[in-house]
Amino acid sequence: VNKSTTVFLGGPDMGADAAAVEAQKNRCSEQHFIYRRGVELGWLGVRDASAEKPVQDMESIWRSARPLHLRAIVSDRLAAVEPDMEQTYALVEGVLDGESVMSMMNELGYFDRIENEFQFAGGFSDESDRQGIEQLEFETAEGEDQDGVSIWMKASWLSFEDDDASLRFRFSYGREGHEDVASNFHKEQLTAMLAEAIFPESSAITSNAALGQTLRQVTGIKKTAFVERIYYFNAPNGGALFHHDVERGHDGVVYAQLFGSTAWLALSKSDLLDNFLAFLDTENIETTLSSYFESSEISDILQNRGERQYWSERFDDREDGTVEILLNHIPAFFARLVAQGHAYILHAGDVILLPQASLEACCWHTVFCLDDFPGEALSFAVRDTPA
Ligand SMILES: [Fe+2]
Repeated sequence: VNKSTTVFLGGPDMGADAAAVEAQKNRCSEQHFIYRRGVELGWLGVRDASAEKPVQDMESIWRSARPLHLRAIVSDRLAAVEPDMEQTYALVEGVLDGESVMSMMNELGYFDRIENEFQFAGGFSDESDRQGIEQLEFETAEGEDQDGVSIWMKASWLSFEDDDASLRFRFSYGREGHEDVASNFHKEQLTAMLAEAIFPESSAITSNAALGQTLRQVTGIKKTAFVERIYYFNAPNGGALFHHDVERGHDGVVYAQLFGSTAWLALSKSDLLDNFLAFLDTENIETTLSSYFESSEISDILQNRGERQYWSERFDDREDGTVEILLNHIPAFFARLVAQGHAYILHAGDVILLPQASLEACCWHTVFCLDDFPGEALSFAVRDTPA
């Protein structure tokens, strides 16, 4: 487990040459310009990892809802899953070219390959869901899930923007977004098996002794189950806005970068609130906010600048457009979080653990693509296997 070795080099106005000079001054081995969907945030540098001290007491970091960066923990599995990832890349490229997921899977032999375990039962796309691409339903070969509750894989875009080709495949069961997904472990397990069959590179997480051991130690879970699986293909200009992944009955999320690189800000909700309140308290905050908000909104924000509980509740409202801008668009806030040690760079083979115990004790995170091609990453929820 590694501490953040990321440093802030400069704001969005800094040029590449100046960033390279700053990087050298800070003894960085790489530097990255961080932007997403037209929002430019600034330059990150990464210090040589060999200089750092490993983190002690991973359990208490997990309990405090802070992230754990496990550098290169799945690296030795990457060669074995490379053919699976090549197949996946062909599927993703087809979808990016406008092919339907169903026809691509058919053409690439997916349905034949998994037919001993699962049978394709139909696909549809919901016109009213602007981010949805296609949802494919499956049945087990024995038909043991003929209870009217389907298991499915859904392909979605990560944003509404035309110039962000990031997409994901998500596996779940029943009605989408239903409240108590952990209540039916049998179904969760079937969807996990379906995900494993379609994307065998999942074994980089699920059959990884080192990661399994670390997870048991950190979380205290005796027999880890990997459920609610999402396969991410973050494309240039793309990534995820700040969010949490709290789901009742799940302990947290394990995210593994298999191909490409991503930049992250990840911190406990409590640390995020601390930084946010301190940010609202900075000297020229009014000027900073005036680039983003009307004056009535600025006075509304500043009137509540010390109200921790008020902001805690607003953070949890996923529809709050003001919070979305405050957390995701402002270079000065980004600079602050990086300077406080909350930024991480994930290269292929790296894992980040994101504890998600409750709305209050959870790890918030935001992701940026660092490449000029779509990467691949696995994001699985972790829970104990019921006796
Ligand atoms: Fe997430």
